[in-house]
Amino acid sequence: GQTESGTSSGDSKSSDKLVIGFSQVGAESEWRTANTKSMQEAIKAAGHELKFSDAQQKQENQIKAIRSFIAQKVDAIVFSPVVETGFETVLQEAKDAGIPVFLSDRAVDIEDDSLWVTFLGSDFVEEGRKAANWLVEETADVDGDVNIVELQGTVGSAPAIDRKEGFEEVIADHPNLKITKSQTGDFTRAKGKEVMEAFLKADGENIDVLYSHNDDMAIGAIQAIEEYGLKPGEDIKIIGVDAVKGAFEAMAAGKMNVTVECNPLFGPQMVDLIEAHLAGEEIDKRVAVEESMYTMDQAEELLPTREY
Ligand code: AHR
Repeated sequence: GQTESGTSSGDSKSSDKLVIGFSQVGAESEWRTANTKSMQEAIKAAGHELKFSDAQQKQENQIKAIRSFIAQKVDAIVFSPVVETGFETVLQEAKDAGIPVFLSDRAVDIEDDSLWVTFLGSDFVEEGRKAANWLVEETADVDGDVNIVELQGTVGSAPAIDRKEGFEEVIADHPNLKITKSQTGDFTRAKGKEVMEAFLKADGENIDVLYSHNDDMAIGAIQAIEEYGLKPGEDIKIIGVDAVKGAFEAMAAGKMNVTVECNPLFGPQMVDLIEAHLAGEEIDKRVAVEESMYTMDQAEELLPTREY
């Protein structure tokens, strides 16, 4: 039920047990599984109750889940929107019910920013820039065209839109870096493999680089490249995003060149934000997750330390 805010003294955080509804995107990637676990563990560790809903990458499931959280009068909603648009009505319903919404991982493209409290997540545009900057350096000595194929994330999702934008912004200054094919692989291994197979079939000998919006699709694509008879990491350079364990394994095996980190382990940070808000504290509208980038030569050493 509703918890009154500001009941704790001394400690600025609310010590009340909260009921938190979490509308998660799905279980499409290693990243997502790690993010779900981080959120579940943090909510439990703080002594709160979690109502969890997996949307299976479908917007209508998320709208239903949020309506059900509203009906159950949860204290807060954590929402990781599968796509950027189309959530105005349901977010207005949450606001009208007095339930604060915390955007998790992915942003929305909605003008009225009073419909959520804060957005905690990564800077996806910057991730795209990092990926492209690595390629610019890697190909500095190459005369002539570098043909890049791109595996995009889920159509309409913030990470797909932003990772494309950041990457294109950087390569725009390097006319020999050319995206020759670009298609969605929906952030999954299976789709990544399938789309890469089609890319190879159409133009296999002319692909120099794969830019994949996440590691899972890259891992699927690596399989397709091997089956096609080329060497991933050598014949075709592979750039991923997330820095999941699977990418470190692929890099340690010499099959993947670089992964840009997108850190999913922000459950504790989210719980802090929810508690602070419900305790009446002002919190920033945008909170960033810190992250880095890793190359093939670091993979073996760092693999045992990776938490996701
Ligand atoms: O929104 C973050 C993205 O969603 C991750 O990079 C991807 O792996 C996941 O599916």
